[in-house]
Amino acid sequence: MAAGSRVYRDQVNETVSFLREKLPGVPDIIIILGTGLGSLADSMENGVGLDYEDIPHFPRSTVTGHAGRLLFGELAGKQVAVLQGRFHYYEGYSTRQITFPLRVLSLLGARFLLVSNAAGGLDPSYLPGTLMVIEDHLNFIPENPLRGVNFEEWGPRFPDLSQAYDPDLQELAHSCGNELGIDRLARGVYVAIAGPSLETPAETRYLRNCGADAVGMSTVPEVIVAVHAGLRILGIAMVANVNDPDNFQPILIDDILAEAKKAEGDFCRLLKEVVGRIK
Ligand code: HPA
Repeated sequence: MAAGSRVYRDQVNETVSFLREKLPGVPDIIIILGTGLGSLADSMENGVGLDYEDIPHFPRSTVTGHAGRLLFGELAGKQVAVLQGRFHYYEGYSTRQITFPLRVLSLLGARFLLVSNAAGGLDPSYLPGTLMVIEDHLNFIPENPLRGVNFEEWGPRFPDLSQAYDPDLQELAHSCGNELGIDRLARGVYVAIAGPSLETPAETRYLRNCGADAVGMSTVPEVIVAVHAGLRILGIAMVANVNDPDNFQPILIDDILAEAKKAEGDFCRLLKEVVGRIK
């Protein structure tokens, strides 16, 4: 484990040096775009794009709806790095591999993480297309990305997660959403499961009873690393489908992608407004 951890640190540092050379500036805000939500990148200006496969040690994205490109540029007047396409535990990656790009970008000097995903709704009052500002999470992915040797220069051994999702950023997201007239806006708890199989009705009932409002297969590993790295975090889950354990409907990836397409306009407007108003 110790040797593996040191190899990982060396790879991170190599990629940091590579990106320092390649990128024209330092990103202040890291944005991770979830399934079907990649088009925010179209609003960027003066962008430089790198395919993941051209960046040393970056994993490769294997999933439909995830482009596999790192974009650096300006959005609403801020320097942002957009991870267009992410990695998931269900693809076979370890949670350390999943969070490799984020660790690298945090070491380049970013201060904020805006992370998004497509999720299944567990709160029966949600409608498809609801944008849920994440207040807190449950981690059911059976591997913590910080397991192993801790590098103190990256963060503390036991990071505190009492306020993983920045309260001021949550409020900013709500006021931006209200001003933009986005009515399907909610706040809630996100639970990350390993996937790739979707939940049974019994599991859905269980997750709801555990206190979760939306369920998905991502985000939490990144948030844990972002807290460790001292980033201020905003998480937004786009609720693609709502799962009622007493009237359970099949959950189909094509339906999720179609719903993400519909919600993408509101999602992009919201994120752009938040980025513009981040201090
Ligand atoms: N469950 C898990 N992940 C998801 C879902 C769901 O219902 N919808 C979109 N991502």
